[in-house]
Amino acid sequence: MATPHINAADDAFAATCLLPGDPLRAKYIAENFLTDSQCVTDVRNMLGFTGFYQGHRVSVMGTGMGMPSCAIYATELVRHYGVQRLVRVGSCGAVQHALKLNDLVIANSASTDSNMNRNQFGGYDFAACASPRLVQQFLNATDAQRRDSVVGQVFSTDSFYDGGDALIPMLQRMGVLAVEMEAAGLYGVASRYQVQALTVLTVSDHILTGEQLSSEARQTSFNEMIALTLAALHP
Ligand code: HPA
Repeated sequence: MATPHINAADDAFAATCLLPGDPLRAKYIAENFLTDSQCVTDVRNMLGFTGFYQGHRVSVMGTGMGMPSCAIYATELVRHYGVQRLVRVGSCGAVQHALKLNDLVIANSASTDSNMNRNQFGGYDFAACASPRLVQQFLNATDAQRRDSVVGQVFSTDSFYDGGDALIPMLQRMGVLAVEMEAAGLYGVASRYQVQALTVLTVSDHILTGEQLSSEARQTSFNEMIALTLAALHP
């Protein structure tokens, strides 16, 4: 039986699902990092695949951009398809000078201008956090491969454009590492349904300097991030 946004068979998803924003990135991951992968859903072209990574069953599905879209897919994956580990793999804009293009950011928590979590939390401020176990597994993998990463808080925004002049200095002052658009929503869904979640990001642009990765460099850093993430999830 399908859900409103996923037309896969009930057992089509693995317990672990990578979540890139772009459905063609989901296809790319399935084709380049998994074996025996099959497309299991294509509603609205939001492609999802299930295959194997070193013998472990793994799924990957696009979420679209922004918390409402991401939360729809995450909720249906958990509630209907039994997914237990939701791992967003995406990009972010750095708001600290200490970060460089191509750096790996692990979002152990996510502040937000969205009301999604507040709406579920009686208007109080919900602490949207990654699962410590997944953070630890990711750090184990980066240590083993001698790759640097930065663990800290990100800001999940509803507004890619025109966030307001005061926003970036405030984020900088409060120690936020980077801006993206999904982590807080994903962590809210994971808490609500008591499953694990993590967000792994590469710095694709630097908001303080205006620098951006070229599309070629984006692809290289994306590949590194996916390889590391899969190794972390299945050590
Ligand atoms: N803002 C929001 N999301 C992003 C950005 C940004 O600057 N860069 C990559 N994802």
